[in-house]
Amino acid sequence: QTEIYGQGALMGIRPTVTTDPRLLEEQARKSLGVRSFNYVSGGAGEKATMDSNRLAFRQWKLIPRMMRNMEKQDVSIELFGQKYDNPLIMAPVGVQSLFHEDKETGLAEACAEVGVPYTLSTASTSSIEDVASASGDGKRWYQLYWPQDNEITASLLKRAKENGYSVLVVTLDTWSLAWRPADLDNAYIPFIKGVGNQVGFSDPVFRAKFEKESGTTVEDDIVGASRAWLADVFSGRAHTWDDLAFLREQWEGPIVLKGIQHVDDAKKALECGCDGIVVSNHGGRQVDGAIGSLEALPEIVDAVGDKMTVLFDSGIRTGVDVIKALCLGAQAVLVARPVIYGLSIDGRNGAKQVLKGLLADLWQSMSLSGIQNVAECDRSKIRKVVYGG
Ligand code: FNR
Repeated sequence: QTEIYGQGALMGIRPTVTTDPRLLEEQARKSLGVRSFNYVSGGAGEKATMDSNRLAFRQWKLIPRMMRNMEKQDVSIELFGQKYDNPLIMAPVGVQSLFHEDKETGLAEACAEVGVPYTLSTASTSSIEDVASASGDGKRWYQLYWPQDNEITASLLKRAKENGYSVLVVTLDTWSLAWRPADLDNAYIPFIKGVGNQVGFSDPVFRAKFEKESGTTVEDDIVGASRAWLADVFSGRAHTWDDLAFLREQWEGPIVLKGIQHVDDAKKALECGCDGIVVSNHGGRQVDGAIGSLEALPEIVDAVGDKMTVLFDSGIRTGVDVIKALCLGAQAVLVARPVIYGLSIDGRNGAKQVLKGLLADLWQSMSLSGIQNVAECDRSKIRKVVYGG
């Protein structure tokens, strides 16, 4: 934060991306076409879950402590036996070429530069291999949209493993596309079609199958290939708990289930031998009228937090939001839209500004609250308050 204040307030250098979380979305709107903007800013139904995500944060308030020695302030954490510089993780976000030509490779590079792990989506517009080289020594995780076809799943996981992705994040809440009016009204499928053949359906096993079944190539029938891919991945048929055994056979590293909201599902994930969960409602993009994701966190932490890694996302906008989630028991948080807005406004440089800003805000807010490290984030520092009116 010294660097940001040093440059900005003292030397008069304005950031290209606003540091005000309330203005960021509006700035991104000006950089994007209407389809891309609606896609990233949109949510399910009337966006009631998105609203709840923010309201849930508003209901928790920090109680700052004074006159504490902050000389040893430290935001590093340990996850799955590895040290991480800070408790922030880039959430998986699909089709990033819609937002900027720097796309996944540029964002992965920016994440590596600021010490934030990059989670690559199955629906990416850069290949698993290209993102691995862009992220270099940076930590990278792989997010699976779980195909019905086991051979395709095995191929994706093999490529992820061979390319240094250390954690497998399996998204459970998107086995079917959701009711998202902004995408439906803007003809969502052509918009995926416009992305070309670089998304997940570029996988060699998928391609071979498609070519055999259709008698044509992916390049010659992008629409058909997109449809075949979507039909397999967002099939409308959910995997069930027993299917996890197959993933375990294919992946020796940590497996994290993303999209857990109910305490019984968290217990089930533990029972099935998963290493972690992400308490998440997909940023309010799947089920409208659901509880705010933060609302689900404390109960889930109480049930499984001492036996498995509990991560959190949906609604993180500021450093204080990160602290609140940590105080309620998350070990780290994922963030999506703010970083994508930064990417939209100024490419990898813009994404980097948002990430650095969030980290600086986290550092500063922790120190001003008298919290020296992540282990000190606990429920004694936070209170649920509902102001009336
Ligand atoms: C997402 N998200 C998502 N999740 C996932 O597991 N795979 C994916 O490909 C995507 N794609 C995606 C695209 C866009 C445009 C958005 C905004 C989100 C969900 C994401 O990982 C995360 O769960 C939420 O977005 C977190 O909420 P915030 O930080 O956006 O409020």
